[in-house]
Amino acid sequence: MNVNIFKDNTECNRKLAEYLINEYLTEDKNIAISGGSTPIGLFNEVLKLTNKDLKIKSRIFWVDERCVKPTSGESNYGSAHKNFLSKMNIPKENIFRIKGEKKPSEEAQSYTRLLSKEVDLVGNLPSFDLCILGIGGDGHTASIFPHELDKLININHCVVGTNPDSGQKRVSLSLNQINNSKEVIIHACGSGKREVIDEIISKKGRYLEYPASHVKPLNKKLSWYLDFGSAENFMN
Ligand code: 6PG
Repeated sequence: MNVNIFKDNTECNRKLAEYLINEYLTEDKNIAISGGSTPIGLFNEVLKLTNKDLKIKSRIFWVDERCVKPTSGESNYGSAHKNFLSKMNIPKENIFRIKGEKKPSEEAQSYTRLLSKEVDLVGNLPSFDLCILGIGGDGHTASIFPHELDKLININHCVVGTNPDSGQKRVSLSLNQINNSKEVIIHACGSGKREVIDEIISKKGRYLEYPASHVKPLNKKLSWYLDFGSAENFMN
């Protein structure tokens, strides 16, 4: 496990953007991205470092999607399209969104089938070249929340998760699918996550209750991209 700590979110996002550009975006690679607000800072840094001349060859999938229309302000695809995909030279056929507008259980099955067709299989599971995860202050990752960890921990297909605060349904990769990735990066900035991040990396307190603690890629290639805010407790 590599823990990369940068002085602020801008430096963290820039360093991760450099890594993505150098190692993935111009290669024929399969990348799964998360939603929420953290990726927007990363997208901005990629855009600062590139332009439309850079032909993106990687294929973009999603770690999870809220069960809303792609035009909704809540949509992870909608956010990525607005802040990144619409500004990059990436072929439409390289973009594989989760259809949040569909019935959750049906889309979970449909996306599972899509992944088995579009992503190399290792064992009997799709194996992304890179999976970029976020983490919540409650230790959730993707749309695997603590209250559903027991139910969702050992499943080989896409799952339907439930946001415990809003009740919002989401279609998500399962931890088994995430862990079948060749590389996983957990990208988290800001002090709101410092407690869970410290517990998880230091393997202390209630860390086993956090879904993000169960991210263990098959060849152990797991890196954290943090800033002083999110790594504050871990550093002290
Ligand atoms: C989502 C994400 C989710 C996210 C974390 C962190 O659909 O919201 O996939 O797992 O990564 O909740 O969200 P922030 O980046 O907004 O803190």
